[in-house]
Amino acid sequence: MTSERRQMVRYLFLRLLPAWRQLDAEDQRAQKAQFVSAVKQFHGKLLLRPYSLMGTRGDCDAMLWQVAEDVDTLQAVETAIFSTKLGGYLTTPYSYLGVTKRSIYDFPTLPDGEDRTVISPSDSRYLFVYPFIKKREWYGLPFEQRQEAMNQHVRIGRKYPSIRINTTYSFGLDDQEFIVAFEGDDPGAFVDLVMELRETEASAYTERDVPVFTCVQMSLWEVLDTLGGAAASREVDTRPTEGDGFTAVARVSDLPAGASKRVYLDTEAVALFNVGGTYFAVSDRCTHGRASLSEGRVVDSGACILECPWHRGRFELETGRPAGGPPNAPLKTYRVKVAGDQILVG
Ligand code: FES
Repeated sequence: MTSERRQMVRYLFLRLLPAWRQLDAEDQRAQKAQFVSAVKQFHGKLLLRPYSLMGTRGDCDAMLWQVAEDVDTLQAVETAIFSTKLGGYLTTPYSYLGVTKRSIYDFPTLPDGEDRTVISPSDSRYLFVYPFIKKREWYGLPFEQRQEAMNQHVRIGRKYPSIRINTTYSFGLDDQEFIVAFEGDDPGAFVDLVMELRETEASAYTERDVPVFTCVQMSLWEVLDTLGGAAASREVDTRPTEGDGFTAVARVSDLPAGASKRVYLDTEAVALFNVGGTYFAVSDRCTHGRASLSEGRVVDSGACILECPWHRGRFELETGRPAGGPPNAPLKTYRVKVAGDQILVG
C-alpha cells in the first residue's frame, strides 16, 4: 500500500448523436436539465470540470474532467450520466483513466509545497489533453541521464509560466502510460512550448502522444448549450445553498481589492469580486447573453453595481438583481466567506 494520498483521474470524452438535435425544443431543454441534475448529485464527492470541444475537434463534443478518491465514484458518475435521457444520445469516443503520483525525478526548482498527488485545477480557459507512451528504451537509460533529460524539460517549461501541467499515471490501469493535461489561456503559447519540447532529448523517446484534445472550460449548462438544440432554461435560484456547503475556490492573495476572478464551484462558473475588502460571488454568465461577468467592471463601488462587458447590462452584486441595460433576469448569487488564506463560496 502506498502512503501517498493519490487521486483517481478520468478524462471522459463525449459525442452527441445528431438525432438528438431533431427532438423538439421542450424535450431538449428538459433533457439538459435532467443531465445537470444527475451530475450535481455528485457535488462534494468529486471534482468535475466540464469542457466543450465544439469547434476544436471533429470526433467529440464535450469532456468531463473528473478527480475522485476512488474508482467507485467514477463508475457512479458514469452510470448516472448514461441513465439520463440525454445519455441515451451520447457515445464515448475516448476515455482515459489515471492516478496521481509523485514523480520519480527530483525537481528542486519547482515551487515549494507543490503537491503533485492532489489535482488542483486553475481557472484557465483551456485544457490541452493527450495520452502519452514512452519508448521502452527510455526506461533502459541510466537514471541520471533520464533525470538530466527531465531537467531540460522543466527548464523549457519554466519559460512558459502561464502554462501549467498536470500529469497522471496510467501504467497497468489503461492503455497509455501517462495522461498529460496542460492548463493555459493562450493556445499560441502552448504551441510554442510543445514545439520547443520537440527538440529535447526526452522527446526522442516518445512512442505516442496522440490524439490531442483542445478543451474549452465553461459551466456544465454552457457546455450543453454548445451542443446545439434549445438553449438550456437554467432556473435562477437566488436562495442560499442548504447546509454549510462552502467550497474553497481561491486564495485571498489571488483577489486584491478591486479585482475579479472566474472560479468554479462544482459544475458552475462563478464570478468573484473584491469590492473594497468585501467579497461578492455571482453566476459568471450574464442573463442577457453569454458574456463572462468576471470580465466586467464594478462601476459604482458604493452601491456595488457590476457592468457586463458586452452590452453594459448592470446588476446589483449583493442581490443579483438587474440594475439597468438589457438584462431582465437576476443573477444567481452565492454566499462568500473567508477562512484563513482561503475564500470559500457556497
Ligand atoms: S451579455 Fe450582458 S448585457 Fe448583454
